[in-house]
Amino acid sequence: MKQVRLGLIGFGNVGQGLAQILAERAEEYARKFGLDLRIVAITDALKGSVYNADGLAPSALLEKITRDGNLVGIAQDDPGICEPGWDALDLVTHSNADVIVELSYTDLKTGEPAASYIEAALRSGKHTVTTNKGPVALHYARLQALAEQNGVKFGVEGSVMSGTPALRLGMELLAGAGVRKVQGILNGTTNFILTQMELGMDYTSALAEAQRLGYAEADPTGDVEGFDAAGKVVILARLLFGKTLRMDQVDRHGITQLTPLDIASATAAGERWKLIGTVECITGGIRASVCPQRLPISHPLAGVSGATNAACFTTDLLGEVTLIGPGAGRLATGYAVIEDILAIYR
Ligand code: HSE
Repeated sequence: MKQVRLGLIGFGNVGQGLAQILAERAEEYARKFGLDLRIVAITDALKGSVYNADGLAPSALLEKITRDGNLVGIAQDDPGICEPGWDALDLVTHSNADVIVELSYTDLKTGEPAASYIEAALRSGKHTVTTNKGPVALHYARLQALAEQNGVKFGVEGSVMSGTPALRLGMELLAGAGVRKVQGILNGTTNFILTQMELGMDYTSALAEAQRLGYAEADPTGDVEGFDAAGKVVILARLLFGKTLRMDQVDRHGITQLTPLDIASATAAGERWKLIGTVECITGGIRASVCPQRLPISHPLAGVSGATNAACFTTDLLGEVTLIGPGAGRLATGYAVIEDILAIYR
């Protein structure tokens, strides 16, 4: 049995989702994969920092967070735990974690502070996994090179479509099939809003509902103006086609200009509006865009409704291959971390 000790930077929704998965499935993973996955350290700027070199019980972490909204004082109930007052860099330096799981907040303008945390983790020779779009969209090439120099892995599956394995499908299973183009519904918030508007809800109420359900970013402008999808397009361009794009090289349009009349006229014509992110190989380069498109109902992406995401790969050998699944959510994104960890130790 191989022990894999995890150090979490950030204990919001995704970290708690990961803890929940481990509470429910760590024994199954040990049996199936011979991996004993343990959270040993957590640091969260708002919720406190905890450490036990032998492992923290995920159920106790969840109980404490649910009860108090933070981890402060958890050591009182368990003498094995300490609350060392660590920040992210302390956790990287001082914990015995084998894998650093970076789950701090996303910033698509700078990728910080996540990129610096990831850099420190890789430089210290630790495998690093993130579900954070900012550092992957803006700094992937540099961070991946750093991982290689340090002989460790950098897992980023959750940065696009959460645990729905779009990146791994494109990079591994379809790598020899000649992927020419990827078109996707890469933002759950906007797809949810468009679906609700088709059902008659107005834009403002649909956005409020998406925020209430936790799909939207803290500032939903990132969703509705297409920045979030553009970040994912940049990631797809890099990981699937090896091309580095800046965010401003994506031809980006959001959904805020779509009116109820636009939605109704598409419905009447047997079509649907979808916010489509596209990355396409063209002679001499790559074309990347995010824009609302009217798709015929027969299109594989037209039937994808609500907050669900999808990616349609156009390949030479298989024609079109479409993957549909969640693109956000506590367990779905927590599971992306598991996928990367399993891949690291496979
Ligand atoms: N705000 C994002 C979405 C979350 O709506 O898809 C997942 O990246």
